[in-house]
Amino acid sequence: MAYLDYTGSGLYPESLPARHAALLAERVLGNPHSQHAPSLASSAVLEEARAAMLRFVDADPAAYTVIFTPNATGAIRHVGESFPFAVDSAYVLSADNHNSVNGIREFARRAGASVLVLPLDDGMRLDDPEHQLDAAAARAGRGPRLFAYPAQSNFSGVKHPLALVERAHALGFDVLLDAAAFVPTSPLSLRQVPADFVPMSLYKIFGYPTGLGALVARREALARFRRPWFAGGTVDFVSVQNELHRFRRGPEAFEDGTPDFLGIAGVAPGVEFMESLGMERLGAHVHDMVGELLAAMTALRHANGSPLVRVYGPASTEARGGTVAFNVLAADGRPVHFGEVETRAREAGVAVRGGCFCNPGAGERALGWDAAAAARCYHAVEDAFTLDRFGDCMGAGVAVGAARASVGMATNPDDIRRLIAVLATFAAGAR
Ligand SMILES: Cc1ncc(COP(=O)(O)O)c(C=O)c1O
Repeated sequence: MAYLDYTGSGLYPESLPARHAALLAERVLGNPHSQHAPSLASSAVLEEARAAMLRFVDADPAAYTVIFTPNATGAIRHVGESFPFAVDSAYVLSADNHNSVNGIREFARRAGASVLVLPLDDGMRLDDPEHQLDAAAARAGRGPRLFAYPAQSNFSGVKHPLALVERAHALGFDVLLDAAAFVPTSPLSLRQVPADFVPMSLYKIFGYPTGLGALVARREALARFRRPWFAGGTVDFVSVQNELHRFRRGPEAFEDGTPDFLGIAGVAPGVEFMESLGMERLGAHVHDMVGELLAAMTALRHANGSPLVRVYGPASTEARGGTVAFNVLAADGRPVHFGEVETRAREAGVAVRGGCFCNPGAGERALGWDAAAAARCYHAVEDAFTLDRFGDCMGAGVAVGAARASVGMATNPDDIRRLIAVLATFAAGAR
């Protein structure tokens, strides 16, 4: 198997489930909401895991805290749900964002806030973001402002400028820096990049356990959140007769119900594993592997000399991570349906992903959709929507999705050769 879907999920080293199993066999861990020994042991495990996560993103424990969630989406949802959006608020986000960040616009809209999207340029980078951000700030009302963008695109692999965090702060924004696609292969220092809300999925970083994400949050910004409800585990005091409730101080106020305390016992070992690899070293490996992948993809040609592959986003390794979105092109330049690429890859034991990867803004830009045509086609097939019907309406020259290959810690040159061999079968006359 050539596994090339690291942006979908990391692969775990054998050592992590083995360490976890040994720990569970040795210790008795109980529901952390009590005072007996197994419960206190779980509380200690939780605190150890929070400390490990803070270390992982080089965050000052006095300034930041860690909220455990089911995944990055759960972390992002906290921000959407509890950010104090008001009628004079602004939610500014990059066009390149995961749907879980796009979805915050529904919370913003419901509160009457304005929503502004920063566009991408032809290279899939933010188009003059400093100027765009200044302009968005000038148009925004006086209410609480939130700016959200990904440190790395899960579509194109582009690394967006981390310096935008300070720029946005200076314009009065709190910043959600979506680190889900960035931190699995790049070091992040929240001492240097003081974003307010930093969501991530732990299975994308060290592969095991799944079912856990984290919101690393700046305490001062978090204190301004307004939770829409309370739940078991989040409160110090609730009165039914007086309809009162008082939230716990700290991250527990956001951890609804019983946390995944057995899974969380796997977090500190996961972080220790990443530390043993060294994030700089891992980043260098990913840089080398994606360089090989891009060079091999862009060298593929049809017999008539036309390119076999179109890469969306940077074809160099400059300011990009290990994720590559692409389509195979026919000899006449038309895109081959990504589903065919997925099928041939699967048959050859190569794991790549197809679609728009939950990042429609990047997809629309990469695939060059005309907004009016896309709206017309969506409404034309709305009642019986399938992507293929939508694609038929858009026309044969317009791709409605792409394939994505992403490299990570265990990728080797042979994995890349195997994908390239699959792509080469699309050359006219090769099959
Ligand atoms: C940049 C980015 N943000 C958010 C997410 C959502 O992660 P999850 O599905 O684990 O909640 C992903 C997942 O692919 C991602 O790549």
